[in-house]
Amino acid sequence: MKQKVLSHLTTECPWRDTLYWYDTIDSTNTKAKQMALQGAPHGTVLLAGSQTGGRGRMGRSFSSPDAMGVYLSVILRPGCTPDRLMHLTCAAAVACCQAVESAAGISPQIKWINDLVCGSRKLGGILTELSFDAQGLVDFAVIGIGINCRQQKEDFPEELQELATSLAMITGRDFSPAQLAAALIESLYKMSARLLTETKQILDTYRRRCITLGKEVKILHPEHIRCGTAIDLSDDGALIVRLCDGSTETVHSGEVSVRGMYGYL
Ligand code: BTN
Repeated sequence: MKQKVLSHLTTECPWRDTLYWYDTIDSTNTKAKQMALQGAPHGTVLLAGSQTGGRGRMGRSFSSPDAMGVYLSVILRPGCTPDRLMHLTCAAAVACCQAVESAAGISPQIKWINDLVCGSRKLGGILTELSFDAQGLVDFAVIGIGINCRQQKEDFPEELQELATSLAMITGRDFSPAQLAAALIESLYKMSARLLTETKQILDTYRRRCITLGKEVKILHPEHIRCGTAIDLSDDGALIVRLCDGSTETVHSGEVSVRGMYGYL
C-alpha cells in the first residue's frame, strides 16, 4: 500500500521520504504524537489501513474500517508561537478540499470548523493537536485527517448512516484511498509552505467553502445552548455569531461545537 501511495506522489514532494504505513493502528494521531515526542521531523506522514481507536474533535470517535478510507496524520514543526497557528485547522480543511477536488473531481464544502461535507452529509473530518515547549512555542502540531472513500451506506455505524457519505457514494465509482492519500500529502505539503505567510488568503478560501456562514446555528457549550446566525470568520478562524438578542459572540473551536438549527449542517 505504501508503494501505491508513493507511485501517486510526485518526486518533488520531500514528505515521501518520511512516510509510514500501518495496516492497523489505534490512532494515527496518537502514534504521530508519540513519534513527534521522540523527535520525528517536520513532514513525517502516517497512514493506516484501519484504526481501532480513531479520534475526532470533542472526544468523539471516528469510524475507520479497513481499506474504506484515508486515515492520515502529519507532523508539522512550524517553530512559531501558538497565536500564529490559530488558523491551522482551517488551512488543513482548505488543503483537504483541494486534494479531494484534484483526486475525485468533486468540490467538498466545510462545516465550521473541521468537517468536510458534500450535500448535507459528512465526508470526512480533521483533528489538529498541538504540543508546546518550555518557552511556550509550538514544539509540534499533528494534523489528522479521515476521509471516507469506499463505504456504502450500510458500511457506516447505524447512527451515522443518515449523516455520513463517501467518495464512492458521491461519484458512483469505487475510489482508491491510495490516490487520495497522495493528493492529500501533496496538498498539505503545499499548504504548510504558505501557512505562516498567507493566512489571509487561506482564510478567504476557507470562507468561500464554509457552508456555516449565513446559517442559523446552535452553539453547544458544555453547560448551555445558544442560538444565532453565523455571520463571519475572524482573522484567526473563529466563528462570529450574531445571537438572537443582537449581540455578537466569537466562538473558538476548542470550546464548543456548532450545529445547524434544523440538523447536522
Ligand atoms: C472529526 O470528525 O472530528 C475529526 C476526525 C479526524 C479523524 C482522523 S483519522 C486520522 C487521524 N487519527 C485519528 O485518530 N483521528 C484523525
